[in-house]
This record gives sequence, C-alpha cells and structure tokens, in this order.
Amino acid sequence: MEHVIEIEGLTKDYEKGFLKKKKIRALEGLDLKVEPGQIFGFLGGNGAGKTTTIKILMGLIFPTGGSAKILGADISDVKIHSRIGYCPENPYFYDYLKANELMDYFGRLFGLETAKRKAVTEELLTKVGLEEKDWNRQLRKFSKGMLQRVGIAQSLVNDPELVVLDEPMSGLDPVGRREIRELIAGLRQSGKTVFMSSHILSDIEALCDNVAILRGGKLVATGRLDELLASEGGERTFEVNANGVKAIDLIGIPGSIRGAVVTEKPSGASIQVAGDEHLSTVLAEIKKAGGNVVSVQPVRQSLEELFVKETSGS
Ligand SMILES: Nc1ncnc2c1ncn2[C@@H]1O[C@H](COP(=O)(O)OP(=O)(O)OP(=O)(O)O)[C@@H](O)[C@H]1O
Ligand SMILES: [Mg+2]
Repeated sequence: MEHVIEIEGLTKDYEKGFLKKKKIRALEGLDLKVEPGQIFGFLGGNGAGKTTTIKILMGLIFPTGGSAKILGADISDVKIHSRIGYCPENPYFYDYLKANELMDYFGRLFGLETAKRKAVTEELLTKVGLEEKDWNRQLRKFSKGMLQRVGIAQSLVNDPELVVLDEPMSGLDPVGRREIRELIAGLRQSGKTVFMSSHILSDIEALCDNVAILRGGKLVATGRLDELLASEGGERTFEVNANGVKAIDLIGIPGSIRGAVVTEKPSGASIQVAGDEHLSTVLAEIKKAGGNVVSVQPVRQSLEELFVKETSGS
C-alpha cells in the first residue's frame, strides 16, 4: 500500500542569535508513515516539534536533513499541493476579507469556476458550522473559534485527499469541538486521510486510528492507538458489573484475588480485577451470590497516562 505520508530521517535545526551562530535542533531523525484512510494523531508537548514537522511537509520551511514524500511525491514537488488541504496553527488570514471572499480566493487559487466556487463556499462554511449571518463579515471581527472554522473550511476547498490540521480544536468551545470532531470523522468516512496535531487528548482518543508521540524533536512512540494503550498498560484491568447483588455479598472476592476492588453501585456492584486469569473466579463468585453479570469491560490505560509517561521523565 502506498503511504500518504512517508517521512525519513527528518531533521531541522533553527538558527538563532547574532550571526545565526547558535542552532536549535527542533527535530531529530524523524521516521513516520501514514497510511491512506487514517486519522493520524500527532502528539507532543509544547515545543516538541509538531508544527516544525507540519511546516516542512507543507514546504513552508526546509529540513536540515532527511526527506519526506506526500502521496508518493517528494515534498519539494509543488504539484502535490493541489491534492493537500492545510489549516495552520492559529490561522491568520488577510483580515479585511470576508469569510466568503476568503473562500472564493482559495477557490480561484485552485482554478475553480465561479459557480463551483460559490457552491463550494456555501457547502463548506455550512459544514464547519459558521452561521450564515457571518459569511459576509470581515474576518477581523471573528472570534478565535470562528477563524478556526474558516481555516478548516479553507483547507477543504480543493477536495483534498490529505488534510493536514495543526491544532484544529484550539480556541473552540465544547460545542464547537464536538462539531469539528464530527467533521473530521466525516472526512475519514469520505475516504480522506487526516494528519492532525492536538493537545486535546480526549479528541485524539475519540478520533484517531494511529498516533505518534514526539518529545524534544524525537519520536518516542508510534502505532495503532488501541495497541499502544493495551501494550503500555502491562496487565489488563477489567471491570465486572453485576446486578442483583450487594457489595457486601461479594466480600469474598478481594479475599481470594489480591488487589480486587468491590464497589457498591445503585443497582448492584462492580469489581475491578487485574489479569484475565481471575475473570472466571469473579464470574463464579457473582453467580454464587445470586447476581447477574451485566458487563465485563477492559479498563483502558488512558492516552493521558501514556502521554505523560512518554513526554516526561528521562
Ligand atoms: N522560527 C523558529 N526559530 C527558532 N526556533 C524555533 C522556530 N520555530 C520553532 N522553534 C523551536 O523549535 C522547537 C519546536 O517548535 P514547534 O513549534 O515545532 O513545536 P510544537 O510541537 O508545534 O509546539 P506547540 O505544541 O507549542 O505548538 C521549539 O523549541 C521552538 O522554540
Ligand atoms: Mg505547534
């Protein structure tokens, strides 16, 4: 399968200070592959190198070393831009333009006819949840969240195969975040590949198939999100929920299984237990006490735990 993004040994030094003698290494030997149809989450703390990577991919700055391909073409090949959509971090547009004028401008850049530009503008501004009364207003009067929406709409003008979003949820209120989350999920459904950075881990957890975590310009973890969460946790913990019993009836469980925790629930009790091998014991104990098992759920290590572990310490 051809990769949508293929990064090899990407390194970036920024020059700094008088006569540019000092160098800051923002990215070091990054290798990354993104497959078609994925929503790929690009994570890392402030200054980890996410925006640097994205700017290199978009041809806005040049790498010090390494290479990258998008849709099979080297990133220096300007032709690929017609197949990519990009929304920068804190999008900044010429702010005396109105939302619909900005959309029209980008439509022109991609060579769309007048009627098509009008249709695409209406479709996309609706899709990102910008109210119709704001379509004809200057961007300088927009809130951060409204600008973010216009930025995302703008990135979709050319119906791109790959959409690159740098912090698409920043500045959005909870309702806005949910709308944009649904929009991004919809992009995958329509067959697009999404590469997005975000600090909002719950959004990443809800949306992404694969993630990469950067720390100090280096890749510290990458893979399928569910596999990363499962493998990092070591022994898996389960929560067993039962109806028709009281916690007191199940007091024997913590006695027979070390570390098991029984909690009273409105309609019964729940038991947390580590390790698959204890599950049958728990189920038998519940049955013995006259209860019904209503659910058995793996308690996943949250992305936040994984993130904190991978982005801190030595
Ligand atoms: N134009 C620049 N000149 C010098 N240093 C820079 C420049 N842009 C970024 N850096 C440095 O490169 C490193 C990576 O920055 P980058 O913006 O890529 O991080 P990020 O992961 O996007 O962070 P954030 O989550 O805060 O957006 C940081 O140490 C930053 O200070
Ligand atoms: Mg950034």
